[in-house]
Amino acid sequence: MQIIRQPAAMTAWAKEQSKAGHSIGFVPTMGFFHQGHLSLMRMAASRAALVVVSLFVNPTQFGPQEDLAAYPRDFERDSTLAAEAGVAVLFAPDAADMYPKGCSTTVTVGNELTSQLCGVSRPGHFAGVATVVCKLFNIIQPDLAVFGEKDWQQLAVIRRMTADLNLGVEIVGHPIVREADGLAMSSRNTYLAPSQRESALSLSRALALARKLAAEGERNTARLTAALRDFILSFPETAVDYISFVHQHTLQELAQADEDTVLALAVKIGGRVRLIDNGRVLG
Ligand code: PAF
Repeated sequence: MQIIRQPAAMTAWAKEQSKAGHSIGFVPTMGFFHQGHLSLMRMAASRAALVVVSLFVNPTQFGPQEDLAAYPRDFERDSTLAAEAGVAVLFAPDAADMYPKGCSTTVTVGNELTSQLCGVSRPGHFAGVATVVCKLFNIIQPDLAVFGEKDWQQLAVIRRMTADLNLGVEIVGHPIVREADGLAMSSRNTYLAPSQRESALSLSRALALARKLAAEGERNTARLTAALRDFILSFPETAVDYISFVHQHTLQELAQADEDTVLALAVKIGGRVRLIDNGRVLG
């Protein structure tokens, strides 16, 4: 596996592969790999001749009070895992090379997809994500890119941006990868104190409760939300950021749950660790 740090060297490599007729599958990450990341890499490998993984903790998607400095990092371990997964290139640029002095262009996706859910408590987050993913697509020139469905809103935003800007990259969603007890895998799970691990299960268990209530006939999302809020708050140290029933593509709030409904959840544990999860309620 090659480790490339300079954007220009990355693009030169990508152009060579394209000339040689090799397709590129791309997995964008912020590192600290877990089984979820490795599954994305495997999916990319099953769909393209060569896999490129980016490892870049993107400063522009973190708010001033967020965890940029504390975000877990372990480059040695990540590069070993990526090499074992058969990745051809680990692209690990410095922030100064991604955002050189004078860099002043931002990609913003419309409010319809970015103002709700995580957009409420993380203003500017999706502009940071869209900008860095657009830059990574331009640098790596992949045929396809694989994103985890845990960040459902992010995936919708990337799909919109890729279509609107004619970027010509196929966007592939990968189902959420979970721990045996149901917790959605996330690099941020490492922030949880052992005593908070049970409370982190409030999200996946709330999804299961919503499915049960919907299967029993409850489709009114206001009543479902009230039941889920009580349920989540019954776990110690939990605070609900949002419980939203949204259309899977438009992300607009729905009054009645149906087959197109995604339940999106964000819960803070212990006032510090913000976790998200989502899933279908029916079907
Ligand atoms: O999902 C992530 O890890 C990040 O938002 C991404 C897509 C790598 C952009 O920095």
